[in-house]
Amino acid sequence: MAQQLLEVKDLHTQFFTRDGVVHAVDGVSFELAAGETLGIVGESGCGKSVTALSLMRLIPIPPGKIVKGSIVFDGADVLKMDDDEVRGIRGNNIAMIFQDPMTSLNPVLTISRQISEALELHLKMDKSEARKRTIELLDLVGIPSAKKRVDDYPHQFSGGMRQRVMIAMALSCNPKLILADEPTTALDVTIQAQILDLLKNLAREFRTAFILITHDLGVVAGMTQRIHVMYGGKIVEKADTGELFANPKMPYTWGLLRSIPRLDERRKAKLLPIEGLPPDLIAPPPGCRFEPRCQYRRDVCREKEPELVHIPNAKPDHEARCWGTQEGGWLVDTDWRKEVGDTRVIEEIKQEVAQLPPEPKPGDVPPSPTAI
Ligand SMILES: Nc1ncnc2c1ncn2[C@@H]1O[C@H](COP(=O)(O)OP(=O)(O)OP(=O)(O)O)[C@@H](O)[C@H]1O
Ligand code: SF4
Ligand SMILES: [Mg+2]
Repeated sequence: MAQQLLEVKDLHTQFFTRDGVVHAVDGVSFELAAGETLGIVGESGCGKSVTALSLMRLIPIPPGKIVKGSIVFDGADVLKMDDDEVRGIRGNNIAMIFQDPMTSLNPVLTISRQISEALELHLKMDKSEARKRTIELLDLVGIPSAKKRVDDYPHQFSGGMRQRVMIAMALSCNPKLILADEPTTALDVTIQAQILDLLKNLAREFRTAFILITHDLGVVAGMTQRIHVMYGGKIVEKADTGELFANPKMPYTWGLLRSIPRLDERRKAKLLPIEGLPPDLIAPPPGCRFEPRCQYRRDVCREKEPELVHIPNAKPDHEARCWGTQEGGWLVDTDWRKEVGDTRVIEEIKQEVAQLPPEPKPGDVPPSPTAI
């Protein structure tokens, strides 16, 4: 097996609050190879951002703490690194793109200063080289008249353009992994599509490993090769993207699929929420965390928590955390199409999925972004 770029094992991140301990990320494990793309999907509060922030050791301490587990990036244990080593991987090896670019851009410095300084510091470029590269990067992410705009301040750019600048900044130090956390939620739909396209194309071109975090299964479908569905601080279903849309198994995933608006309705439609509320992560239900909202539940679901295990009659790496989908379970042979109802939107999404590039093969060497 090829060496993984990222290996997360049994990650537990908690927040110690006055009301109790919030089990925000509760035993999450996954791997990512160089150049691979992964979507993490789930409703608000399920632990997506805390997972991403944990990878970069950006959890505020206190109240937060990574209490258990390991994160190995490029062979090094992130949780054992000292502060200097962690700073070295942030922005340099792992770049993060947030929903609000202003959380990463400094409002009082020009774009040129912000990107060039990072290039001078991390890639040891001299001033003129760094400026030239900054303009190239702004060009690459589609900033018109990059040569002129490079000396502007962040507030002189529109929201979509600021997000492009953020992407340029993320790419500037040739990261091995880009973490994008709801990168387009604050933008209007047309701009969202453009930014997602840009991210997809750049991740493909540079063969950068890429984790996209979103609450919308429809968004992630055409972007990443694999999808992990999260619920209540845990991964509840994982599969490659084609498999997840061809053979979704977990009732919570069905709920997410039901809630995707059709492509032609996306402009006006909001996601249809799944009935009921996500679990309280201070005192989560003792059995399956989705049990209080699940129409397929049985007694065992309330009594005992299911493990994330392979599903019979599914691809080998397709796993779910559900009693109903385990060997002999009552949902193994259920036809999800009947349960989800209107599957037209899923058929549309499958066409996007069909255009995804193949998984990288072991030994594939991505081109250096500086060569482009
Ligand atoms: N600083 C904090 N203090 C206390 N609890 C926190 C803190 N940050 C996050 N949490 C809790 O951790 C849980 C997971 O939060 P997280 O931000 O990861 O959710 P998310 O899946 O990213 O949601 P969203 O889609 O709304 O961004 C939530 O219950 C949240 O309230
Ligand atoms: S374990 Fe039970 S309650 Fe949980 S999703 Fe599966 S069927 Fe529903
Ligand atoms: Mg979040």
